[in-house]
Amino acid sequence: MILVTGGAGYIGSHTVLELLRSGYEVVVVDDLSAGHRELVLTDNFVQADIRDRAALSAAFQQYPIEAVLHFAALTSVPESVADPGRYYDVNLGGTLVLLEVMRAFGVTRLVFSSSAAIYGDPQRLPIPEDHPIRPKSPYGRSKAVCEEILADYARAYGFSYVSLRYFNAAGSDPEGKIGEWHEPECHLIPIVLEAASGKRPYVEIFGTDYETPDGTGVRDYIHVVDLAQAHVLALEHLAAGGESGAYNLGIGRGYSVREVIEVCRKVTGRKIPVREGPRRPGDPAILVADARRAQRELHWQPRYTNLESMVETAWAWMRRRES
Ligand code: UFG
Repeated sequence: MILVTGGAGYIGSHTVLELLRSGYEVVVVDDLSAGHRELVLTDNFVQADIRDRAALSAAFQQYPIEAVLHFAALTSVPESVADPGRYYDVNLGGTLVLLEVMRAFGVTRLVFSSSAAIYGDPQRLPIPEDHPIRPKSPYGRSKAVCEEILADYARAYGFSYVSLRYFNAAGSDPEGKIGEWHEPECHLIPIVLEAASGKRPYVEIFGTDYETPDGTGVRDYIHVVDLAQAHVLALEHLAAGGESGAYNLGIGRGYSVREVIEVCRKVTGRKIPVREGPRRPGDPAILVADARRAQRELHWQPRYTNLESMVETAWAWMRRRES
């Protein structure tokens, strides 16, 4: 059985669905501080904070856990800049508690949700895994330190792990069972789609003076189903005795904020009012992945390779929720 922490969140819930579709048995631990029980498509659910050692231990007692997918974390770059203590407490403290409980129960295989935010401003593009790690935000730093801790646990205690460094997750389950659901919403694509559907008056562009072709931030958007599949492949890699390591997950192509808005206009056929505002603290100008290592070593192949198809699934989910 696979334990998924944070399995009620956006990427976690899509990965749970992918695991179930692949025939795995899954138990989810989530405190529902940001996730939603409705997104968890299994009855094996424990509502607990990952810093709660007793509750985690009880879950390990109750279920025959072989490996862990660890998503549970706070995930907002700007929030982490404003409140770093909370980010380190949950993201670092929670991970340490989880690792210690795993160790106590002899579970040593882990897939960790890392992030492109660990790289900071790129010195090379696209960004390979051996790029310098210089996070610009406490969020990014919390993920970078967790990766180091995992390497220590691997050396000292025989853990094996895969760190998946996501670029920008986008889209929703194409069958419409689940989708992206943050409250409040702070990610670009759902915000733009909310403006398209009239739920918000306009989209604010955070910075138009970046050194990018049109002055706005550039990101590598990757469909959440492709991310979910990478987790299943990472689990298989570890189960087959594969080596520990880190892998970038992106499509290797960047879209600017203005390009994202344009694609959303095309997909929705709606008007999307825009305002230009200042930069958001902690944001790098551009993040684009070199994800060839995952393709080579995990045999991962993203199926959604253009933004239109990602926005289409996100838009379908938003309309379904509204109806
Ligand atoms: N943006 C706007 N207006 C908005 C929201 C976002 O202009 O209302 C811009 C941002 O400045 C950025 C881009 O759109 O340039 C994407 O922003 P998101 O908030 O959607 O995503 P981030 O790139 O900030 O962060 C996401 C995840 C992080 C992860 C990071 C790694 O939320 O967890 O990707 O790339 F670390």
